Amino acid sequence: MQIIQLQVVFTIYTDFEMLKADCLQCKNCALADTRTNCVFGVGNPEAKILFVGEAPGANEDLQGEPFVGRAGQLLDMYLNGIGLDRNKNIYIANILKCRPPENRDPQPAEQDACIGWLREQVRIMRPAIIICLGRIAACRLISPNYKVTQEHGIFFEKNGTLMMGTFHPAALLRDPRRKADALEDFIGLQEKIKELGIKL
Ligand code: URA
Repeated sequence: MQIIQLQVVFTIYTDFEMLKADCLQCKNCALADTRTNCVFGVGNPEAKILFVGEAPGANEDLQGEPFVGRAGQLLDMYLNGIGLDRNKNIYIANILKCRPPENRDPQPAEQDACIGWLREQVRIMRPAIIICLGRIAACRLISPNYKVTQEHGIFFEKNGTLMMGTFHPAALLRDPRRKADALEDFIGLQEKIKELGIKL
């Protein structure tokens, strides 16, 4: 059997807008053929807190912004409840910048093809805290065996950045019994922001 490894080469950027401009043209994987918009992210690139979801859904693909559907409205409620605002003091991005058909889970090869964009976003932003929204983001960024139900709300330090996983807002819509746990995670985040002296 022959194994062919395809390696995606990513440029190192110094400027967030140049990174975004190139990302919007990305053709690293086949999802580029079916997207309406490449969803780079939203928020303040100077923010010290970065939220990372999984991949755009149908609404995000149409509007070019992460978390704009029902799950996004719920996310905004949690954010606003602790003084965070996607238009002011945080940034929101996804592991994948393009929508997988039928909202299926991102495949490992798609994640590998796309992750360099997020890596560059993190390198330029240098966030103090990264919050992983759901299993896909937490498994990719915190640990491959991450279990949201067991490890949500716990802060891990990785390369000088604090990382915490919590429930994906779409999972909270499917199982509202988890909403109280998610609220505790956001309160924990609020305390961590205070503890670190992050100005919002
Ligand atoms: N779900 C995600 O993980 N990201 C989005 O942007 C929208 C829904």
